[in-house]
Amino acid sequence: MRQPPSGMYKAGALLEHKEGNLPAHSRGTAKVGLGVSMELAVGILGTGSELPEKVLTNFDLEKMVNTSDQWITERTGIKERRQAAPHETTSTLSVKASRKALAMAGITPENLDLIICATISPDMPLPSTAALIQRDLGARACCAFDLAAACSGFLFGMTVAEQFIRNGKYKYVLVIGAEVLSRYVDYQDRKTCVIFGDGVAAAVLGPVTPPSGILASDLHTEGQHANHLYIPAGGTASPASHETVTRGDHYIKMRGNELFKVAVRNMEEVSRRVMEKAQICPNQIDLFVPHQANQRINEAVRERLGVVPEKVYSNIDRIGNTSSASIPICLDECVRSGRLKKGDLILMAAFGAGVTWGAVLMRW
Ligand code: ACO
Repeated sequence: MRQPPSGMYKAGALLEHKEGNLPAHSRGTAKVGLGVSMELAVGILGTGSELPEKVLTNFDLEKMVNTSDQWITERTGIKERRQAAPHETTSTLSVKASRKALAMAGITPENLDLIICATISPDMPLPSTAALIQRDLGARACCAFDLAAACSGFLFGMTVAEQFIRNGKYKYVLVIGAEVLSRYVDYQDRKTCVIFGDGVAAAVLGPVTPPSGILASDLHTEGQHANHLYIPAGGTASPASHETVTRGDHYIKMRGNELFKVAVRNMEEVSRRVMEKAQICPNQIDLFVPHQANQRINEAVRERLGVVPEKVYSNIDRIGNTSSASIPICLDECVRSGRLKKGDLILMAAFGAGVTWGAVLMRW
């Protein structure tokens, strides 16, 4: 994996972020300490993922709800997904994924300056899942918080981490996309239970040597469509009670076909925007990793962008939709299988509840 440039952030050293060959939007000057002056780019130093062992196939779902393997496969591309065991939680899976990412990055938990856990299925309303991860990883008392942007959460988290590293405040940031959505899914609702799965992945972000690193990112939220995908109860609007549980209001409710249209349009637009910012054409992209919500959504986005099918990564058949974990799980699979190579241009785009959407373009 990419190692941070030697000499950076050494006590008393000056890190000056010059305007060399970085794209216009990401140029700037950041000074950290006194001494050496060098360019700063922010990239991924290590990845790791963790999936629950239990596999829930379409055939299993056929026995639970009025659906069929054929319908699920044709409408979503999903064949199976993972389901956490009762003892597994968002934080326990996150700790395992994080240890793998830290090992690949060659750093220890004590080196972390910030932990961001992107999740919409936290262990509990409070404290944050990030705090539990920090405790169980044995990280020092660094800053740690959760970020709720649903399926776009990992890209939101990466972009937040990038700012802290670029401005010199932090060196190593752990960004985790973590979901145990099976605890929030109604297995009697065929419109939702067939698409969601459990899984976690983490990435260590830190300084890298240009031209590697994040080239452009673009994030959006439009609360107008909040009711297309939500969990009605369990918060201040409708605290948990016997009535809310009887109504099943603690489960995910989704207007899938409404989201479908917005997802295709927004993922295409935001992907174009980051490519424009970095002055990159679609045919220069080596790997396109879209959020794995629905194979048909991704196929439509790919076609509109004009990216060839061989450059699109998909694991939706095996993993389903793991919301914020979806993109980092793909990333980890690509890194470990050698699909992603140094110098590759990678485009990631996501869409989710909120609604939120975003894209990050980076050179590996
Ligand atoms: N099995 C069989 N039939 C089904 C199932 C099922 N699992 N689910 C729905 N149907 C039926 C419906 O009842 C409907 O029947 P009707 O015409 O008799 O009323 C018919 O199939 C069509 O239903 P639609 O909801 O229109 O099906 P659609 O093709 O839109 O597929 C799906 C549904 C898979 C949910 C799709 O809309 C989708 O993927 N949407 C996007 C989801 C998304 O991107 N979410 C955001 C990210 S997730 C996050 O942020 C946490």
